[in-house]
Parts: sequence; C-alpha cells; structure tokens
Amino acid sequence: MAVLPIKTFPDPVLSRVCRQVNEVDDDLKQLSQDMLDTMYAAPGVGLAAPQVGRDLRLVVIDCTPRDQEPQPLVLFNPRIVEMEGQVVFEEGCLSVPDFTSDVTRAERVVVKAMDAEGRPITVEGNGLMAICLQHELDHLEGRLFLDRISPLKRSLYKKRRVKQIKRGDE
Ligand code: NI
Repeated sequence: MAVLPIKTFPDPVLSRVCRQVNEVDDDLKQLSQDMLDTMYAAPGVGLAAPQVGRDLRLVVIDCTPRDQEPQPLVLFNPRIVEMEGQVVFEEGCLSVPDFTSDVTRAERVVVKAMDAEGRPITVEGNGLMAICLQHELDHLEGRLFLDRISPLKRSLYKKRRVKQIKRGDE
C-alpha cells in the first residue's frame, strides 16, 4: 500500500492535458493501485493521475457508500461516448482544498476505456457515478470544477487560496 502526495491548486500539473497510455504495463498497474490507496485514504470517491503529479490518462473511482463492499474502478484512456440529461450537484475535489460549489453536468454518461488489466471496458454511470466520471475525466483535460463555476466565485476562491498558501497553511 502506498499513499501518494496529492497535488493541489494552483500546481501547474493540474492544468496540463494528459497523455494517452499505450500499454498497461506493471508500472502503470502499480500506479493505479497506489492511486486507489491514495483515494481511499483521503478519503475521496475519485482520483485522476495529474492529482498525483502524473500527466497520464488514468482515473480511479469508487462511488460505493462507505458501509458497502468497495467497488474500485480503474480506467485508462477513458472517453465519453454518450451523455444525456442535466443535473446540478455540489462538487469538491481533493486538489481544491476547503471549497465546494454547484456544478451542472450530464445526468447519465457512457464511458469507454481500458480496465486495470488493459482490457476494453464500457461503464454506464447515472447520478453520482455520472458526475464522478465527468469530474475525473475533466482532470485529464487539465480542467478543474473551478473552471465550470462563475468567474466571480472562481476568483474569490483563487484569492483565498493564495492567502492560504502564503500563510503556509496548505
Ligand atoms: Ni477532482
């Protein structure tokens, strides 16, 4: 088990467009396991590779309620192939400390990817799972949920965050 340090806003790795994964080798299998460990330890319901400093198209997700058996999902090169409906949900992010905001997203998505072993997988997400998939996939494009809220709210958060970092209170 390895819990990795989580990069936080405004670390530049969080705004980078991530690279495709060609082959799921042992190093990437290890990375995905470490990311799951990191996500569960946080705790969080999803984590994308740039959040641990790697600009790779890899996300891990588990939206299962804490009192149920974990259902870890590892997705390499995920892409949305279908989306419909609209839902507003109050989001947060392990890379955006002390802040949440309402974000509008699709209510249902279908994602194609490679799983932890590099096999093709199709995932259908509704509700929280749909939101989580879209939030994590955004990370791979260098986008945070901050980029989906009003410019005013975003700039207020940025100011607060800069002060926080200056105080050394990260
Ligand atoms: Ni996030």
